[in-house]
Parts: sequence; C-alpha cells; structure tokens
Amino acid sequence: MIYLDNAATSFPKPEETIEHLTRFVTTVGGNPGRSGHKLSVEAARIIFEAREKLAEFIHGKRSERLIFTANGTESLNLAILGLLGENDHVITTSLEHNSVMRPLMHLKERRGVEYTVIQCGPDGCLDIEALARAMRKNTKAVIINHGSNVIGTTQPLREIKQAIGNVTLITDACQTIGSVPIDIDRDNIDVLCFSCHKSLLGIQGLGAIYIREGINPRPLKLGGTGSRSESIEHPDFLPDRYECGTPNTPAIASLLGGLTFIEKQGLGRIAARKNALREKLVQGLSGIEHAIVYGCRTNETNAPVISFNLKNKLPSEVGYELNQREIYVRVGLTCAPMAHKTIGTFPAGTVRVSPGYFTTDAEIDHFLEELQHIAER
Ligand SMILES: Cc1ncc(COP(=O)(O)O)c(C=O)c1O
Repeated sequence: MIYLDNAATSFPKPEETIEHLTRFVTTVGGNPGRSGHKLSVEAARIIFEAREKLAEFIHGKRSERLIFTANGTESLNLAILGLLGENDHVITTSLEHNSVMRPLMHLKERRGVEYTVIQCGPDGCLDIEALARAMRKNTKAVIINHGSNVIGTTQPLREIKQAIGNVTLITDACQTIGSVPIDIDRDNIDVLCFSCHKSLLGIQGLGAIYIREGINPRPLKLGGTGSRSESIEHPDFLPDRYECGTPNTPAIASLLGGLTFIEKQGLGRIAARKNALREKLVQGLSGIEHAIVYGCRTNETNAPVISFNLKNKLPSEVGYELNQREIYVRVGLTCAPMAHKTIGTFPAGTVRVSPGYFTTDAEIDHFLEELQHIAER
C-alpha cells in the first residue's frame, strides 16, 4: 500500500502521536476543567501543554488566543462568520477552498456581505497590485489560502499584509502548517486558521485558530466551559469565549505527540524532505508520456501537493487504476472548484498526489512506474 493523500489527512502518524493518544485514552480519560479530581486535572494539563507548544510553534505570543476547533473548516467559519457583517466587503482569491467560499456565499445571501475574488494565474501566483486595487473603504478582511490544496502554490503573506495595511488578514494555512515555517509576527498574520490532522500529525477531529489581540470574532457556539458555572452568561475570557462543550482531548493529546515529533526532527528537515519528494514527483511526472503537471513546478516554498492529468484518461480513471494497485491519491475537484477553473481543469479536476514525511523514494518510484503502465494502456 502506498499512501499519497497527505493533503487530506496525514497517514501514518508517528509513534509519538500514538503514544500520547494511547496514554490519554487508557490512563487519563477525564473530562478537562470539569471536575477537581486527578484525571480531570491531568486532561486539562495536557490541553494546556499542547496549547503552549502549538502557540510557540507559530510564534504566537499569547497562547490563550489559540483556540482549538473541530477542524480547519470550523476555524475558517469562526473567522468569517464571526468577523463579517452587514455592508462589509471582503477580498479573497480564486484558489480558495470551499471552507472559505461557502461561508462567504452564505454571508452574501444572508448578511449582504460583498466579496471580490482576485483571479490568480494558472501558476497560482497572486497579483498583489490587483489585490490592492480591489480594496474599498468598507473592506473588512482579506482571506488568503497560504498554500493551495490543488497545486501547492504558496502566497507571500508579508507582502500581502503590506499591501492591505490595517485590514484584517485571515490566512488559511491548512496545507502549509507543519510543512512550511509560519511565524505570526514575521508574516503579519491577524487570524491564522488551520487543521491539526494534516502535517501537524494529530489525529482527525482537530483544528485551531490563532486570533491576534484586538480582533474579537463573535463565537460560533455557546455553552458549558467548566468555568463560571454560577452564571448563565457565556464567559468573555479566552480561550473559553470560543471553546465550549467537551473538547476533543484525545486528538489534542495526539497533537502534542505530533508536535513533539516535529520538534525532534526539526521543521527545517521536514520541509526539506517534503520539498525533495515534491521535486522527485515533478521530475518523474515530466518523463511520463501524456502527463501534464499543473501550477508552478519549480517553487521550493510550495506545499507538497501536486496536481496532474494524463491527456488520454479522466482523473477518475487514473484514480481507479491506482486504487486497484493499492496506491491512494485523491482525484476530482478537491473541494476547490474555483482553483480548478484557475488552472483550466474544471469540471473533471485532476489527480492530486500529496506525499508526507514518511513517504519513501522507493514509494515514489513505484507510483511513477505504475502510472507509466496506466498511461500506456
Ligand atoms: C486549503 C484548505 N482549507 C481548508 C481545509 C479544510 O480543513 P479540514 O479538512 O480540517 O476541515 C482544507 C482541507 O483539505 C484545505 O486543504
């Protein structure tokens, strides 16, 4: 079996992830912040440690401003639905995921929010001058996909923030965090949304959002926090303002394991390895007859995500053939129809290959050999 679908969720997970998860579900198990007994306190301590480590990982100075969510989608919903209201204008790009576009469409229909989509080039590059020109007096936020989940192209966040000044920069880092270094301060990010089950190597069911001081989205949900139980008013302090109900402590424990693994390996080494795998794939694909690789193929800061097609086959046919050979990729529109329109692959989409840190050179070679056979049939 060869797993090349790490952009959907990473697999396998490192030992550290499994150890932390197993320790939590077999020996801790308590509900954090709810009760005063040892198991509840230990669960809360694990969450505290994970929050501290994750905040440090993104250079966020105030760990209480890092909120755990169910996934990258919930983080983006909190930012978009929580910050935008009537008569607001927002700018985004043609590479966005449906986790951005669907909340925006909802706001357009329900709250009269207007949005402008800046068309990226087929290589995924964003015209920052066009972005600056689209700014209006009522532009409340700019939403940027840091790394495309279709072609891996990354955007220069610092330059974008310079172009938009005080307008809130919301960044979707689902495909970059854990693969590409992210520094909230250096990159001037106001709101950072991401998944924890992809390159951060936690299990599924966890995402997070970091919200810079001075930005206070409306919460998406209200309820029990284990704090201020005497009051029926939802607490206003962080992280409780946004985190309520029993958290996904098993996933948070697993994330702590994932972060420990990344720390041991070093993000630089992980990034370099993924880039080498990306380059090997691009190189190999360029030697396969009928193969077309989309996007910018040479950018070494790209996320490890590659889209291609075989001219003589539908992506679904290629995916079927690969699946028969126990090689697992994703095909189709990958939740980003506008991105496919941008690269000219709508409506059939592409075959998306996303290696992970544990992908071996031999696996890439085997994938390329099998693809060669498929292309020849
Ligand atoms: C760019 C991008 N944004 C948002 C998401 C949604 O993340 P999640 O699956 O954690 O909800 C994904 C998931 O693939 C993504 O690639």
